[in-house]
Amino acid sequence: MTSSVSTQIIEALDAQTAAFEADVLAGLSKTQKTLPSRWLYDDHGSEVFEQITKLPEYYPTRTETAILTDNAQELASFCGVGAVVLEYGAGAGVKSQILLQALQQARMYLPIDIAGDFLAVSAARLRARFSSIEVLPVAADFSHDFALPGDVPVGFARTGVFLGSTIGNLTVAEAVSFLGRVRSHVLEAGTSKPHGGRALIGIDLKKSTDVLIPAYDDAAGVTAEFNLNLLTRINRELGGTLAVNRFRHEARWNEQESAIEMHIVSLADQMVIAAGKAFGFAEGETIHTESSRKYSLDGFAKIAGEAGWSVANVWTDEKDLFAIVGLEVR
Ligand code: AVJ
Repeated sequence: MTSSVSTQIIEALDAQTAAFEADVLAGLSKTQKTLPSRWLYDDHGSEVFEQITKLPEYYPTRTETAILTDNAQELASFCGVGAVVLEYGAGAGVKSQILLQALQQARMYLPIDIAGDFLAVSAARLRARFSSIEVLPVAADFSHDFALPGDVPVGFARTGVFLGSTIGNLTVAEAVSFLGRVRSHVLEAGTSKPHGGRALIGIDLKKSTDVLIPAYDDAAGVTAEFNLNLLTRINRELGGTLAVNRFRHEARWNEQESAIEMHIVSLADQMVIAAGKAFGFAEGETIHTESSRKYSLDGFAKIAGEAGWSVANVWTDEKDLFAIVGLEVR
């Protein structure tokens, strides 16, 4: 059966809302209330995140961009001549453009993202700018197993790229399975020879909480806006009654998990409605909305090792705030 593009978009939105509703009903019923961080990125949330990346306190984006710019040639030769580059969570692809600029000899670039329409627009932009590189967008949810399209050329070295330290939002178990998925994508089906399968992963490094906490609780309140926008989204999409001024944003360091956590803290004992159900909050009770894991290089090497990779190269900034790790299939 075929359906029009607008029907497909409406069906996709319905599926999204249903998944959001299920996560809200389940997450707010837990003892430690929790919501998956992916729901932070509605239209407004994505715009506010863009503002976060420009804040003086938020070092990751500008540091990773500088590492890419400063080492573009080395990163390109790590991928090799005639590289097939798979980028997971390509988004607007600003950082990928730095890499592609250096990778003029790439055979093919495959931006992989869940938002298919957005992906087509940015693919068109990349084709216009890099006419010699074949761009093949893949609309897929890379948090689950998926197959690459059949027309990825064989016999060329493949590199999986995952930037932005988004891997830090995954649990350790999820990170291992994600890295295993990338490994299977860079190894060609039916070949024993991996053609030098590689990966480039951006990770945020463990550092003082004097730096970490302000990065997730900035003076201008932009991160607070980003976090509390989740309440507005529940109200709008799920008929919620959560008063934003009865909650506040908090950034916490969890030493056990080596992660910065974002929480939404209730300022009072209160009852709210969301998705047709009542939920009680005690004063001080929180909704855990994001964990952003900070790795040591050794710790990350161990996780990569569990997924069948070994560390071949590491690029960092001079303050060791952030790293782009080059992995090779073991
Ligand atoms: C885009 C997921 C990498 O964890 O640093 C920024 C998201 N959250 N400020 C991060 C985020 C609060 C960001 N990632």
